[in-house]
Amino acid sequence: MSRRFARQGTGPLVLVLHGPNLGALGRRDPALYGRLDLDAIMARLHALAGELGVSLEGLQSDHEGELVEAVLAARAGGAGAVVLNPGALAHTSYALRDAVETAGVPVVEVHLSNVHARERWRHHLAVAPAARGVVAGFGPASYELGLRAAAGLLR
Ligand code: DQA
Repeated sequence: MSRRFARQGTGPLVLVLHGPNLGALGRRDPALYGRLDLDAIMARLHALAGELGVSLEGLQSDHEGELVEAVLAARAGGAGAVVLNPGALAHTSYALRDAVETAGVPVVEVHLSNVHARERWRHHLAVAPAARGVVAGFGPASYELGLRAAAGLLR
């Protein structure tokens, strides 16, 4: 499944991308990922975007190829930076990493959970070396910190 969040706000554009299974936030292991669903997280990000003077557009996709396309199209679509939670693709997807390398705009990787404190296979980050930086472990605030970083990198 995939879901688009239409552009809102004024000012330079930040694209927010959510990977596989993040559409299930709110009902997916709340002890780990919290009780906010994606709508609530996007609402918090839109409020912060207003304070920061940036606009936001979003996509959640369970499909690796759709995320690759979104990263590659970000710059042509007017985005000056990307906030990306790749979900489990963070640990496996060299295709997404290549796209991030090619994006031509800074990409900030975010994770709700502290992936370094979890299973060993989550310690390997395939995409992160191509990202400008990584925020992990702060729940929904990881997205907010990532958006602050992205807004600071806009060009
Ligand atoms: C996640 C961490 C990943 O390991 C996991 O597969 C997810 C969510 C996070 O936001 O904490 O889907 O990216």
